[in-house]
Amino acid sequence: MKRTPEPEELMDEADQALAYAEADFSESNELFLDLFSRLHPGEFRGRMLDLGCGPADIPLRFARRYPEARIDAVDGAPAMLDLAAKAVAAGNLEDRIRLHCQHLPTRSSLAGDYDALVSNSLLHHLKDPLDLWRSIRDQGAPGAHVLVMDLLRPNSPEALDSLVAQYAADAPDVLRRDFRASLHAAYTLDEVRAQLSACGLDQLSVEQVSNRHLAVMGRLSSVAEARP
Ligand SMILES: C[S@@+](CC[C@H](N)C(=O)[O-])C[C@H]1O[C@@H](n2cnc3c(N)ncnc32)[C@H](O)[C@@H]1O
Repeated sequence: MKRTPEPEELMDEADQALAYAEADFSESNELFLDLFSRLHPGEFRGRMLDLGCGPADIPLRFARRYPEARIDAVDGAPAMLDLAAKAVAAGNLEDRIRLHCQHLPTRSSLAGDYDALVSNSLLHHLKDPLDLWRSIRDQGAPGAHVLVMDLLRPNSPEALDSLVAQYAADAPDVLRRDFRASLHAAYTLDEVRAQLSACGLDQLSVEQVSNRHLAVMGRLSSVAEARP
């Protein structure tokens, strides 16, 4: 099925951000955490960057699972970050999760040299998908752990309809609309491999991890290399 880009990069409509924050993504967000523990067995004590954090459910789950982790979480949509700030405050985690309003590819004040760089469901939103891979490559410490999960574009309109029926039949209209648009905008495994190759990140692996998700996992090179 041919790709159709998202109409908007950011999720900055108040009703859209609220519907997303109130939806139950526990199954896929727990899968995300499980993939991270496969990539990085044991305790994680370093600095982690989450790109396109939305309402911060993944940073919150990450902070609870790894009590010594420090997290910077970035999103370009103030409406999402307002909800994220409330969730972080409700979890009493303001000292360990810092929220930043930034529109990729800008990186302004972030310190870089992160030990882990993660992102869930941002890639298909970006006008230029290489912005995500360059941000990860340029802001990670040598050998940093990388986990990016996103939707996988279905093979046919029928397969897309069936995923919408399976996962969003009872969802609010705005969420069902966004899920449909996201599946249309998502990439295939080979398209993501080509993106990684264009950024010199071929060492990262790309695999299907559920009936609607792909994941990119691995580590940045442990020595500084020439950057394409
Ligand atoms: C589908 S949501 C995913 C949120 C979160 N990662 C999660 O898994 O729940 C995508 C998020 O990426 C943000 N976003 C899209 N394009 C962006 C960009 N260029 N820079 C920063 N954030 C962006 C949107 O505002 C939205 O909050």
